[in-house]
Amino acid sequence: MQTAAKPDRFSRSLAAPFLAVNRGVFVFIAAIVAGALVSAYWISASTSIAPTISIATRAVAQTAARSPEPAPSSARFASLGANRTPSEPAGGSPLPQRQPPAPACPAYFRWIHEDLRPWRATGISRETLDGAHRYGPKFRVMVIAGRLYVARYGRCFQTRDVLTQWGILQLLRRHAGRVPDLDVMFDCQDLPVVNAGDHAPPPLFRYCGSETTLDIAFPDWSFWGWPELNIKPWDALRREIGEGNAALHWTRRAPFAFWKGNPTVGTVRWELLKCNVSRERDWKARIYAQDWREQVRHGFRESDLAKQCTHRYKIYAEGRGWSVSEKYILACDSVALVVRPRFHDFFSRGLLPLLHYWPVRDRGQCRSIEFAVDWGNSHPDKAQEMGGNASKFMQVELTMDHVYDYMFHLLSEYAKLLRYKPTVPDGAVEVTVESMTHGRRGLEMEFMVDTMLNASGSAAPCELPLPFSSEELETLRRRKADAVRLVETWEEAVTN
Ligand SMILES: *[C@@H]1O[C@H](CO)[C@@H](O)[C@H](O)[C@H]1NC(C)=O
Ligand SMILES: *[C@@H]1O[C@H](CO)[C@@H](O)[C@H](O)[C@H]1NC(C)=O
Ligand SMILES: *[C@@H]1O[C@H](CO)[C@@H](O)[C@H](O)[C@H]1NC(C)=O
Repeated sequence: MQTAAKPDRFSRSLAAPFLAVNRGVFVFIAAIVAGALVSAYWISASTSIAPTISIATRAVAQTAARSPEPAPSSARFASLGANRTPSEPAGGSPLPQRQPPAPACPAYFRWIHEDLRPWRATGISRETLDGAHRYGPKFRVMVIAGRLYVARYGRCFQTRDVLTQWGILQLLRRHAGRVPDLDVMFDCQDLPVVNAGDHAPPPLFRYCGSETTLDIAFPDWSFWGWPELNIKPWDALRREIGEGNAALHWTRRAPFAFWKGNPTVGTVRWELLKCNVSRERDWKARIYAQDWREQVRHGFRESDLAKQCTHRYKIYAEGRGWSVSEKYILACDSVALVVRPRFHDFFSRGLLPLLHYWPVRDRGQCRSIEFAVDWGNSHPDKAQEMGGNASKFMQVELTMDHVYDYMFHLLSEYAKLLRYKPTVPDGAVEVTVESMTHGRRGLEMEFMVDTMLNASGSAAPCELPLPFSSEELETLRRRKADAVRLVETWEEAVTN
């Protein structure tokens, strides 16, 4: 059906500097696999790739650990005593009087610095922010002296804006007295739009970003629930999926790749339908299309996400932009088969191919999926470990505590860039728990009650890791590209 895809397609813009390396890997792999079976070269190849990947992760984790102050980059590597306890002062210097250090945030928090980098040198003036109107933001959020004000510029699909504002309101309760004054433009549509070539790009928050745009990724509404789809708030669902993992052991799950969703929102998903099992061909994929109109009428009663860890492999395919389904798929300890993504949300840049998920081609998906399933079924230990790695990431590094801390740090770093004092503009109204819950019913009300936080605040936020150095960023990008490339060479070795 499809011919093997061009080797360097995946590396895209990142590819150019690394092509030589990739080609080297390719030649090397091609040499060692000549005449060998897939299972045999997985072992040799994985022993060569796995250490490099884990070194990268360790390096990221280490440099992500705190140092006393957000210092200039030269201090970045002075943080190796990261996990020292308060009773072990660093390097013999006198221990300053302070609270025991907060735990370090997960490494993906480092992307906060990257997302704000375009404004690091210039700061954000009122004019810069107003420039966001070119891109049609849907609402503007201001925090002034701990109170939340919202100006509406347009409509959002379903209750996206409502739950986003609800989440910010809870942030203000959770980190009472800590959130600085803010002035933020939001969009709630799927696709990132701020052109990286824009001369004076405005900061615009939305739920996802991409390599070619400057939109700032903010946690999406579904962390507080998606009432229209009967998807519970993340805190509850994360726990339920964890229980679902325990209820059916990986080895007893159907040895196929499962996908269920709305296929009408992207070509990758349409293509995915072709991979379904048929009388002529079994690609080892089981694909189910949800009819949204039908489901909306029945309240999505049959789509209990916590009960969907029934297959050993789960496919993640982006929709129009990123898809909120990503976290539910990864939380399952089935192996996530990730069709080459073009977008990222705030946490997904912390995931590494072959460590947390199996990368799948976006052209020639069916063959790629079949290869992944065959690989996993013949390497059940490796496959389970990979599924476990992703599920651990979601259960440990993506708790609501971390989601709130991410929001806190992103907004605090953003506020440092503001070159003016935010004031409440005409047309903005104060939003409170009372005003938001007033007259609300059904699941919307239920989810708000479930996610309401204590107004008396709570523990200090985790400690924000330092920015990536340009070498670290490049290393990380290269590791990702190399891992994807490696899988492609394995696929090609079988196909050819
Ligand atoms: C995929 O195949 C299964 C089994 O034949 C079927 O139940 C399902 O409806 C098919 N999915 C689509 C999207 O056609
Ligand atoms: C799972 O993660 C650990 C590090 O956290 C890594 O050493 C290991 O290789 C990963 N497993 C797989 C199959 O990638
Ligand atoms: C909220 O805070 C109060 C006062 O600190 C405390 O007594 C109460 O147990 C807290 N409630 C919850 C649900 O944590």
